[in-house]
Amino acid sequence: MNQTPTFHVPLFGDKSITHRAFIFAALAKGESVIRNVGGGADLASTRGALRALGVSIERLDSFSWSVRGVGGVQGFQEPVEALDCGNSGTTIRLLAGLLSGCSFPVTLSGDLSLCRRPMSRLERALSPLGRGLETDQGGAPIIVGGERSSALTHQDQELIIIDTLAASAQLKSAALLAGLSDPRPIVVRESRLSRDHSERMLSALWGSELKDHSSESLQTSLPALKPALKSLDFTSPGDFSSAAFWIAISALSPPAAPTITLDNLNLNPTRMGLYHLASRMGIRLEAQVKECRLGEPVGTLIIYPRAIHQPLKAVNLSRQEVVDALDELPLVALLASFAEGQTTVSGARELRVKESDRIEAMTEGLSRLGVEISSTEDGWVINGDPQRSFDGSYTVESHGDHRIAMCFMIAQLKQSEGLLSIVDADCLEVSYPEFPEKYIQYRARLEEISKVSKIKA
Ligand code: S3P
Repeated sequence: MNQTPTFHVPLFGDKSITHRAFIFAALAKGESVIRNVGGGADLASTRGALRALGVSIERLDSFSWSVRGVGGVQGFQEPVEALDCGNSGTTIRLLAGLLSGCSFPVTLSGDLSLCRRPMSRLERALSPLGRGLETDQGGAPIIVGGERSSALTHQDQELIIIDTLAASAQLKSAALLAGLSDPRPIVVRESRLSRDHSERMLSALWGSELKDHSSESLQTSLPALKPALKSLDFTSPGDFSSAAFWIAISALSPPAAPTITLDNLNLNPTRMGLYHLASRMGIRLEAQVKECRLGEPVGTLIIYPRAIHQPLKAVNLSRQEVVDALDELPLVALLASFAEGQTTVSGARELRVKESDRIEAMTEGLSRLGVEISSTEDGWVINGDPQRSFDGSYTVESHGDHRIAMCFMIAQLKQSEGLLSIVDADCLEVSYPEFPEKYIQYRARLEEISKVSKIKA
């Protein structure tokens, strides 16, 4: 019997989860160890900022770090200069929430792209706690803490409700981290469920469930008395947003492609939008949860090669699917370009204020490749064509955005002749620096398989 070849992709820890692991470890009392940490620049930004606050963080080996926690926000030292958050929206927004509880002022800044992103929305997370925030015309640099947070001690036990008015995990997490240094009971509510890593990790470290994500209520409650955080010994599970590229790679590969397997992967339902969309598009995949780690489901993802004569199918996304696949929507646009029928994505306005305007970046790049795509205010309309392939030489812009760069690297699978070059593809270093090497190996495997099948034929 013919066995389908298998291609195994090891993945480093999820970026969102690992940022949070470093932050909670810094707040804990004692020594924590965080393992399976990849080389992405965004995580280096979080480590750099925490070090500037006096947290000792040391490399144990290539992929593990030890963190000596300072026992709470009061244990941080006043940084001598602005904290550099690089390109990382998660670093700046989560730390802004956390550091709003400092008795001294802290300035947070980053690269040009980060400074252009909206920061005044953080007011929604901070003002119910009586904490102020200064922005530079709505963007970074921002200043929190010090005199902006004069009301750090409260005698009353009044319940504070924070409505983030959005499905934003960065905003929700900023509110929760700010709430850690407030002695009142706090409820953080959101309009739709965004990724819930902060509440899972905090619940696991405190040993009590904080979130209520039943359909009527999307809220997380912090008690008045905040227990001290326990130190952690944590192996970060693989990043589903990195696995997502492999789902797209498999979908755009020829039917004789290998089965792709990814172990030790985070299978948090709030991150798996692309899994369900891909399955509706006709991609065969299977997720097996094997364990729970600091509140996160972890397991294996298997992506089977496409069946012959079964084109991808267009999809329409619900509002919740847009949130669950937020960072993967550029990949949805790419896959939709090769699907039978029209795909409409709406309700994704947030994509305009990510590392680039992802709505325009994908529209511009895919149109350049001849795809029938038009942008709307909050998404795309894409007329797919399963027969589409590119046979010219093209140059597309990454707009300095790691996810856009990787999307177009994957589009190269549909290149029959010529060359598809991506301007500033190196920006993928911020999240998945290991990608190019693994992708080259995969394409070499495809080449081998196609040579063997030609010989057999
Ligand atoms: C993230 C939340 C998301 C996501 C980002 C990472 C996080 O942003 O796009 O890449 O780690 O909390 P939102 O704030 O829009 O949810």
